[in-house]
Amino acid sequence: MFGKKHFTFQDIPDLSGKVAIVTGANTGVGYITARELARKNAHVFVASRSKERGEGAVEKIKKETGNEQVEYLQLDLVSLKNVKQSAENFLAKNLPLHILVNNAGIMATAWTLTEDGIQDQFGVNHVGHFLFTQTLLPKIEASAPSRIVNVSSLAHTGAPPAGIEFDKINQEDAQPTFQRYSVSKLANILYANSLAKRLEGKEVYVNSIHPGFVKTELTRGIIDKYGIIARIGLSVANLFAKSPDDGALTQLYAATSPEIVEKNYRGMYFVPFGEIGTKTAQAQDDELAEKLWKYTEDLVNEKLRA
Ligand SMILES: NC(=O)c1ccc[n+]([C@@H]2O[C@H](COP(=O)([O-])OP(=O)(O)OC[C@H]3O[C@@H](n4cnc5c(N)ncnc54)[C@H](OP(=O)(O)O)[C@@H]3O)[C@@H](O)[C@H]2O)c1
Repeated sequence: MFGKKHFTFQDIPDLSGKVAIVTGANTGVGYITARELARKNAHVFVASRSKERGEGAVEKIKKETGNEQVEYLQLDLVSLKNVKQSAENFLAKNLPLHILVNNAGIMATAWTLTEDGIQDQFGVNHVGHFLFTQTLLPKIEASAPSRIVNVSSLAHTGAPPAGIEFDKINQEDAQPTFQRYSVSKLANILYANSLAKRLEGKEVYVNSIHPGFVKTELTRGIIDKYGIIARIGLSVANLFAKSPDDGALTQLYAATSPEIVEKNYRGMYFVPFGEIGTKTAQAQDDELAEKLWKYTEDLVNEKLRA
């Protein structure tokens, strides 16, 4: 905890000429990630579902960094049509895309379905990011060297023994809400693994990370579900939490560190602060990753056709 950090803000190289999108960048570790990319002169898009919060973050980042190339990109991962439109709105700008940080997320929410009828944690954390990334991928490949970072979690270790039980994803009482979160975070890693494999030999580096236990607004779902008990538990737990600045370091490492290219890191899983982490056996299961890819692709196609 008090040892030397493997990666710090000072280690972020100059990013002049680079274009980056960070999802869920209006608050939490996403905000810090966008801010530090902007501080190093990247042209940064703050992807956020709320215009008010997104534009508020843009103004704050501009003020804090002096970088005027910070823009708002409307993105609501709860709607696949919106996700596709958001990616297309970015593509219409005819800019390159060197860094995509798939950071937005929800945790332990009460049972809810997305606009497309997908269980919300799986839909927002995984399916929405899958469609967003796949739509942007030709641009990311054309902009190589480029990076994609999937923000996962240590919570991926809480998935059931089979990893992803596809028939249970949309069954209301099949899994407790924390397990639904774990499955969605396992999906973040498996998707990064499959994408990294498909991009082998290209200069597109895809990795996943766990930011650490960080004091952010992520616990909103728990507070809504468990009320005062959750508030008390969280106020104690937060005494041990990392600051959002420290929490952003690992995704900034995967998004910017020259080490990623030098060591040809692909399909890796990093933990604070940019160290190589250990994935569960499920998170290394290529067959499961391929099954997830096919399941997600079919789901997205079905929903977009509807
Ligand atoms: N905090 C931790 O201890 C921890 C640990 C492990 C992993 N993580 C991961 O870190 C990532 C960032 O979380 P955080 O801790 O910074 O949480 P946070 O403060 O709650 O930020 C989450 C971000 O995601 C956005 N978001 C939620 N639903 C969205 C949707 N439908 N469309 C677009 N954006 C949406 C939120 O937007 P709004 O403000 O509009 O809700 C917010 O900008 C998540 O992927 C999380 O799973 C966090």
